[in-house]
Amino acid sequence: MGVSVSNDSGNKSNWEPHGGRLVNRMVSTEEAADWAGRAGELPRLKLDFRQLSDLYLLGEGAFSPLEGFQNRDEVQSVLRDFRLGSGLVWSIPIVLLVGDEAKDWKPGADVLLYDSGADPVGVLHLEEKFPLPKAEYAEQVFRTKEEKHPGVAWLHGSGDTALGGKVSVFPGWRPHSHEGYPAVPRETQQVIADRGWKRVAGFQTRNPIHRAHEYVLKVTLEGCDGILIHPLVGETKSDDIPAEVRLQCYRALIDNYFVPERTLLALYPTWMRYAGPREAIFHALARKNYGCTHFIVGRDHAGVGNYYGPFEAQEIFRQFAAEDLGIEPLFFDLVFFCKACGGMGTLKTCPHGKDSHVQLSGTQVRDMLREGRLPPTEFTREEVGRILIESMAAAAAGGK
Ligand code: ADX
Repeated sequence: MGVSVSNDSGNKSNWEPHGGRLVNRMVSTEEAADWAGRAGELPRLKLDFRQLSDLYLLGEGAFSPLEGFQNRDEVQSVLRDFRLGSGLVWSIPIVLLVGDEAKDWKPGADVLLYDSGADPVGVLHLEEKFPLPKAEYAEQVFRTKEEKHPGVAWLHGSGDTALGGKVSVFPGWRPHSHEGYPAVPRETQQVIADRGWKRVAGFQTRNPIHRAHEYVLKVTLEGCDGILIHPLVGETKSDDIPAEVRLQCYRALIDNYFVPERTLLALYPTWMRYAGPREAIFHALARKNYGCTHFIVGRDHAGVGNYYGPFEAQEIFRQFAAEDLGIEPLFFDLVFFCKACGGMGTLKTCPHGKDSHVQLSGTQVRDMLREGRLPPTEFTREEVGRILIESMAAAAAGGK
């Protein structure tokens, strides 16, 4: 299903979801009630926050063409060849890991899935049960086996058995608490279509928005009809800033410094894997499903610590033909403010030396904010700095 939207000049878009069709594994309220009525006879599984967000996004088609948690062959093929069985590019296996609770379940079983409450949220139609090759997964996806990598830590903290199979997802629940923003592909694509955007760039972010982000977004907008600012609002590392605070920051920046008709703030309710290059491909394919034709990849995209080179997340895109990805990456060099230029730039555009560049590490910025000091406006807009200072003060007062 390709959707044709027009931009101001009436041009058509060639956009289509990954695999050509947006998956929909959501069932009706009636069907959900039928499943719930069989609760006494079906095996049940309580999902954690990450699993719930995977289930939700599988149901809504954000991971199209996937229709469920992946089986053994697909996992192997993604790990080794970056491909699904169909030949489509895919970079991170979506697996449902469990422990002993599944030991008596047989392929063919329908497993009722629960969140922490009493109401079921979906069904796994179990096709395969297999031990996940965790060491290979860690080496291929995270490029390390070190447990201090947050992705490897997740792997080690999860069960050893993977359950594969299609899912059916019940309506009326969400894995996140933020109201008022589109969060699934259909809603987001609708806004994009209503606005008539043809060239739409997606911007993944997990950090409070700063001047380098703003520059990347505005440079991109010069060549696009609109930009999807798409913060990841699922689980992140404990020292990352919480999503509700980041949303206030995005709002403050968009309301004061962006053209509203050209900017869409929407949510991406999944969790960070911190898988750098592999996650950059995964982020791009998911944003294709949300309606983007382009995707921004800057410095150390989805990185953590020093596990990946600063531009490895860009280099990986060269492994794939443009038509295999179906979404065009937009690469950015390291962005900074240059005092001599009097503006933002990169080594491609600024001829001055490092002494002229305003660059602060994440730790330096965090220390300033904690002490109630605003970072320089060349680094963070004052409106954003104030929100961050207040939230840190509130968190400290609350003993968090
Ligand atoms: S990420 O983990 O979601 O990638 P973050 O929110 O910090 O982290 O970054 C969002 C996007 O902006 C990523 O594509 C990242 O590479 C890019 N980016 C962040 N800071 C810079 C910078 N100073 N220069 C160039 N690109 C940047």
